[in-house]
Amino acid sequence: MGFTDSLKKLLNIDEADGNKVLVTGGLGYIGSHTVVELIEQGYQVCIVDNLSNSNIKVLEGIEKITEVRPVYENIDVCDFVAMDKFLTKNPGIKSIIHFAAYKAVGESVTKPLPYFRNNLQSLVTLLELMPIHHITNIVFSSSCTVYGQPDTLPVNETCPIKPALSPYGATKQMCEEIIRDTVAASNGEIRAILLRYFNPIGAHPSSLIGELPNGVPNNLLPFVAQTAAGIRKKLKIFGNDYNTPDGSCIRDYIDVVDLAKAHLAAMRRMEHPETGFSGVEVYNIGTGSGLSVIEIVNKFEAVNGVKVPHEIAPRREGDIEQVWADATLANTKLGWSAVVPIEETLKNIWQWQIRLADNKEETKRGRFLGGS
Ligand code: UFG
Repeated sequence: MGFTDSLKKLLNIDEADGNKVLVTGGLGYIGSHTVVELIEQGYQVCIVDNLSNSNIKVLEGIEKITEVRPVYENIDVCDFVAMDKFLTKNPGIKSIIHFAAYKAVGESVTKPLPYFRNNLQSLVTLLELMPIHHITNIVFSSSCTVYGQPDTLPVNETCPIKPALSPYGATKQMCEEIIRDTVAASNGEIRAILLRYFNPIGAHPSSLIGELPNGVPNNLLPFVAQTAAGIRKKLKIFGNDYNTPDGSCIRDYIDVVDLAKAHLAAMRRMEHPETGFSGVEVYNIGTGSGLSVIEIVNKFEAVNGVKVPHEIAPRREGDIEQVWADATLANTKLGWSAVVPIEETLKNIWQWQIRLADNKEETKRGRFLGGS
């Protein structure tokens, strides 16, 4: 769905070639959705995840959707010896999709060192192991946070990188640099694609996997869904005095399944040098249009027929006023574009929220649903 027909033809995308892929953080939010897409396209998937911000039950969700149980081990990607052993046990991996990282912007401000250690060391470990295990391709999860508040909108990949607003943002910028330098020094042995995600939201349409926020959600959509479900009393809309049409901040909300498919398109591009791939490439992954916080809340209420009690609150420190993607490069070079309508995404979020509530009830009664 995320690929154009011409690119499908060019890349033989319908033909499952059985390539083996390592997905780090494969039980996390974006990782698990990507694993599903990979399996559905015929890839053999190996997952490492230390469950630091994910749950082993996600593996059951993946298995229920795909009827395949991927290889999985509980390993910290920073652990060179354990990763080396894992790669020796699972030979023939051609590509890595690297999700495993800490991602809470606010937490990174209060605890910078774990962010630097985890996010940098995991990447360096993988890059060191790649040539040892003859792995040539890596897809890296970067973020539009590298642009800060862009001078022009929509933002494209040539827009300048702004000083990072948080240690989390700094790790994304540093990781991009580490990858560029490593590829440059690798004599063509390592190829990389950096995907700069905009705001990932949504859940798998099966409601068997989705976002599992830890504690009180920081991000907008999990908070909206929990408020609609009565778990949170009121959503705070952080600021209605921005220089935007309705005064609230604007973001480019990208469906998680669309986002997952972008990883396959990136990997395919590296696997097929005839596509004109060179060393390191960077792509914005967004829809190409922005929605305000107030628009999102109104749409969520309308499509799901629920109320989201809310109030206007002061601005949140560090928030960018508005940002949305120019995704033309991904559209043309990767043959990828966002296709899931926002209404569909918001419905999937609500269905997933209902599922989570059901599972909680079942767990209380001593049974685990896990999606059955
Ligand atoms: N918002 C609210 N109320 C809430 C939560 C969020 O009004 O309870 C608003 C925010 O102020 C912002 C918008 O909703 O205007 C989106 O906020 P999120 O926290 O969902 O997302 P951010 O754009 O702040 O951050 C996300 C990712 C980061 C990434 C960044 C890149 O969480 O990892 O996008 O811009 F770095």
